[in-house]
Formats: sequence, C-alpha cells, structure tokens
Amino acid sequence: MAQHRADFQSEIYGNGRAGAVPRLPTDLTRLESLAEHRLAPGPAGYVAGAAGDGSTARANRAALARRRIVPRMLRDVHERDLTTEVLGRTLPAPLALAPVGVLSIMHPDAERAAARAAAAQGVPFTLSSASSTPLERVAEAMGDAERWFQLYWGKDREVTRSFLARAAGAGFTVLVVTLDTPMVGWRPRDLDQAYLPFLHGVGTANYFTDPAFRAGLAKPVHEDPDAAVTHFLGLFGDTGHTWPDLAFIREHWDGPIVLKGILHPDDARLAAECGMDGVVVSNHGGRQVAGSVAAADALPRVADAVGDRLTVLFDSGVRTGDDVFKALALGARAVLLGRPYVYGLGLDGQQGVDHVLRCLLAEFDLTLALSGHAGPATVSRADLSEDPA
Ligand code: FNR
Repeated sequence: MAQHRADFQSEIYGNGRAGAVPRLPTDLTRLESLAEHRLAPGPAGYVAGAAGDGSTARANRAALARRRIVPRMLRDVHERDLTTEVLGRTLPAPLALAPVGVLSIMHPDAERAAARAAAAQGVPFTLSSASSTPLERVAEAMGDAERWFQLYWGKDREVTRSFLARAAGAGFTVLVVTLDTPMVGWRPRDLDQAYLPFLHGVGTANYFTDPAFRAGLAKPVHEDPDAAVTHFLGLFGDTGHTWPDLAFIREHWDGPIVLKGILHPDDARLAAECGMDGVVVSNHGGRQVAGSVAAADALPRVADAVGDRLTVLFDSGVRTGDDVFKALALGARAVLLGRPYVYGLGLDGQQGVDHVLRCLLAEFDLTLALSGHAGPATVSRADLSEDPA
C-alpha cells in the first residue's frame, strides 16, 4: 500500500498496538502559548511579537479562518500524491520552511537542527541572511537536501555579491529576496524589553564570517565585537533600493529568484517585468506594518495578476493543514511555514521541528483526501465556500 503523510496518524495510535503520546500538541495552533510558558521572555517575545498592536498578525489568521472549505464526496482519493513542481524542482509537498533569523535564541542547535528536520522530510529549508550559523555550516548539515537562501539586501554591494557567491557555492538553489524589511518595524514586545539579538552579535554569523564584510572593519571581529555590530547595523538594510536595482541581483544569481513581501498586484507585475521568477505573498507574519492587509486577502489578487507568469508562494498565518489547503485554493503554488516550526525548535529541538512538519503534512494530506482531492493540483477557489475579499 502506498505511503501517505496521513499515516503519521496511525503511527501515533501505534498502528493497532499501544500508541505513544506525542511530546508536543498535534494542534499546531497550541504551540505559541506553550512556547510563551516555557521559553524566556526575550526570545518568546521576539518570535511571537508583531508590529504595533499586533493587528496584522491577527488579521492574517482571521483571513484564513474566514475562508471555509467545502468538502466533496465520492471521489477516489485512495492513492494520493502531494508532489508539486516549484521553481523547476519537484518537491514532495507544496511546502518549504520560511526564512527565520537568529534561531540560536530558540535552541543551541539552531538552524542546523531545523535544516536537518526539513531535510528528513524532503522539505526545502530557507536559510536567513540573519542566521546564527554561517551558511556553509548549515549546508554541511544538510547533505544534498534542497536548500534556499534568503537575502537581506543591504547597503554594501560587495557584501551582497559575496553572500550570493557563498550561497551558490554551498548549494543553495533558490534565492529569496526579502523586500519588506529595509528597516525593522515597530515591535513593542521587543522594544518594551529592549531586546534585539543583533545588538549582542546574535544573528550576524553570515556577516561576521564574510570577507567583504570584514574588509570594512578596522579590527578583527573578536578584537572589537562592538564595532562589528555597529558596522552590521549600518549596512543591514537599505531604504533607497528601487525596482531597477534588481538588475544587480539578477546579474549575480543564476538560479530562480523570488521576491518576498509582495502584497500589491502591481508590485507582482513589476517583479515579472524585472525578470524575477516568483513572489512570496507575505507581510512578514505581521511584524513590519501594523494595519497591513492580511496576506491571505492579498493572495488571490496577486495570483490573478501574475499567476500565469510567476510562481506565487505564500506565508503569514499558516498554522495547520487546512491553512495550506486554503492558500493553494487562493492561488499559491506552495506555502512557507514560519512560526510553528520555530516554536517546535524552541520546545524540542530537531525533534520538535520534525513533529511540526509531520503533523502539518499529515493534516494537509487528510484535508485533501477528506475534501475530495488526490493531490494539490486539483485544489481551486471552487473548493472554498466564498471569497469574501
Ligand atoms: C521572521 N521572518 C523573516 N523573514 C525573512 O525574510 N528573513 C528573516 O530573517 C526573518 N526572520 C524572522 C524571525 C522571526 C522570529 C519570525 C517570526 C519571522 C518572516 C518569516 O519568513 C515569515 O514571513 C513569517 O514567519 C510568516 O508569518 P507566520 O506564518 O510565521 O506568522
């Protein structure tokens, strides 16, 4: 009999013998409150926190919750296949891990633990520019597994050029250029604790190991770490970039490029005109602009504008298998999973990320099957009760 992601359910029940109670909840929306209880206030606030009063983060969840699936009956879903073509690669499911920086505040094994868990499930891991582990060491931990690199496009062209060359050399295939963070948003939970990991040189590993970055320092990082942090803060973001500047990125990256943080259909059209391969419809999990449009409300409009020309990915608010289904129905090719895997890491290291991925994929597989689909390709807006947008 074919293996299905849903089989994780039978495994939990012990496949007919005595089952084993999972170490973490299987309702992944419960991870946040568990993390708030178990983790230190600084790291918990950094991950759970959002811009302003949190309205965008809440809107992300509400926009997904508002859409309801209308399951269809008596369709043969006995054999299911979640395989999805994304940006020229064949993924085992329409899922990748979102880029999340500074994972060492969650667990000492940080990015490598998350990357190994992703690799074990065949899910691409997206490494942040702001990782706490240098990209080469994450690549080493992943073997041949699919990995993507997220660029924070800063002020120093040489550093950008160097990051792209290093990432390509280390086997990262897809470049994710995040556009919504030329500055960090107004985040009260961090502000109220004066907590920002970068100030302590956490989340700067790619920079501190970079020859082009180091060339801008008067002394080696270990001799004057404060100066290195100041230099990092000075070049991390660039509020002056405009669309034509993307030519520089295109010129220095041979593989697919996707722009992350796209919410307006016209920006998606501009991405296509600039020779990009895809967009991630995302508001950074509500961490940048309070009062922003919910990502799931922006998704169908972007998909309508460029779905035939660009690969449309989605994040911001995905917590459960039915969220993945809804994102596909609204026009996404695949989704990026953010906070839930980070909570899994904080609560139980690599095993915790593994748990989160297995739960999400099992629930997605079951949602597909119970809604009358044998794979992601047939999911469409017709599967939702209405589109309130
Ligand atoms: C992020 N995100 C992010 N994005 C990015 O492009 N580079 C990064 O370094 C980070 N860092 C980061 C840290 C933390 C703690 C969080 C929660 C998020 C945004 C991330 O890729 C994704 O867009 C959001 O996590 C999606 O929102 P949800 O679904 O996690 O709420």
